Amino acid sequence: MSPEQKAEEFKKKPTHIAVIMDGNGRWAAKRGLPRLAGHQAGTENLRRIITACVEFGIPYLTIYAFSTENWRRPQDEVQGLMHILETVLERELAELHKQGVQLRHIGHLEGLPGNLQEKVRKAVELTRDNTRLTLCVAFNYGGRDEIVCALRQMAAEGLKPEEITEESISAHLFTAGIPDPDLIIRTSGELRTSNFLIWQAAYAEYYPTPLFWPDFDKEALREAILAYGKRERRFGRVSAQES
Ligand code: IPE
Ligand code: IPE
Ligand code: MG
Repeated sequence: MSPEQKAEEFKKKPTHIAVIMDGNGRWAAKRGLPRLAGHQAGTENLRRIITACVEFGIPYLTIYAFSTENWRRPQDEVQGLMHILETVLERELAELHKQGVQLRHIGHLEGLPGNLQEKVRKAVELTRDNTRLTLCVAFNYGGRDEIVCALRQMAAEGLKPEEITEESISAHLFTAGIPDPDLIIRTSGELRTSNFLIWQAAYAEYYPTPLFWPDFDKEALREAILAYGKRERRFGRVSAQES
């Protein structure tokens, strides 16, 4: 099937899918492996899910890879996660670029090792004109932190009280210019937001799944999109008003 035909299998498709990639540690523990082996497996799965999103014709995918709270993990795990991001960028960038993926980073680059910051900047720069899929990587990202940053910037710009609107706040977030997520998938059965896109998710449809992230494959993604298609998004209205 061509990508276009694949895209047609969904009657209603999210424009923006965001994923809380959770459960790598438990996936590894179940196999008697170290946690980092779970993160590695999670990375391999990510490649499959990116390709599936391209095939399904999803224009925006955001992945939660490292939160502002994840610094609290043991030092060796934190370092391992930094290393994984670095090797993934080295290994996958050319292919992502070829697939027409535009990379964006949301969160703070400051705080990451200098060479990693440079690699992320270069990857964003290289892929900036790609249009097939925008992949937002949330790394050193926290929703509250993002709002604080936006408000500080607005204060620094001297915005008047009446200029502080939902639109102007959105325009100052890391996600400026990216449509709000329609569907937020959380793997591993947890039922919380963990500080992810807390402003942007105001009307997102949540989809929890018990699968650990390394096991969340293309079929599971298809099911999530089909489930999304059956949801009625009312945005405060009643069913009869739905167009
Ligand atoms: C998600 O998997 C990946 C990151 C937070 C980096 P976890 O590492 O949180 O896996 P569990 O929740 O311990 O199973
Ligand atoms: C959320 O997962 C962060 C990422 C997936 C990067 P966590 O595993 O860190 O979330 P909590 O701590 O269980 O809420
Ligand atoms: Mg977790």
